[in-house]
Amino acid sequence: MSRIFSRALAGVAALTLATGFALANTQLDPMQALAGRPAAGNVMDPMTTLTATAKPEAETTANPEFDGLPDGPGAEETYYQCVACHSTGIIMQQRVTDQRWDELWVWMVDKQGMVEPDAETKAVILAYLKQNFSSER
Ligand code: HEC
Repeated sequence: MSRIFSRALAGVAALTLATGFALANTQLDPMQALAGRPAAGNVMDPMTTLTATAKPEAETTANPEFDGLPDGPGAEETYYQCVACHSTGIIMQQRVTDQRWDELWVWMVDKQGMVEPDAETKAVILAYLKQNFSSER
């Protein structure tokens, strides 16, 4: 009897622990914290460091000058086009398909009032987004 009881107790304890971890996890999600942050660009900022290690397998370096956007063709264009309204964190946390990036672009223009750059710059930025924040590569 007491053995069953202590087993049940252990079960409850495990559940409580698991729930605790789950709660702690949602609260500590660094991307959540990043999403609303204003553009910083400070290398010593722990959040910038977090974004820098977001994709360790890739041979890209987060550029503090562009609020942590990984270096590469289009980084500068993307920075100036996108940080007018929000931080780069909201971009860097994405891992979406190429098609989704095209849709997000249209959504940003139609619904958020983003001013479209010339066609060449648009192509450079979209290529950069697909190269660096894609679920396809
Ligand atoms: C004119 C303002 C404006 C500009 C410029 C802008 N955005 Fe946004 N963007 C927004 C707003 C507003 C949201 C919604 C934020 C929210 O979730 O409330 C948003 C959200 C997003 C999201 C999150 C979408 C989602 O699924 O939740 C992504 C990704 C994004 N923007 C990417 C970009 C990129 C890339 C650029 C540059 C090419 C850009 N934005 C430029 C206004 C802008």
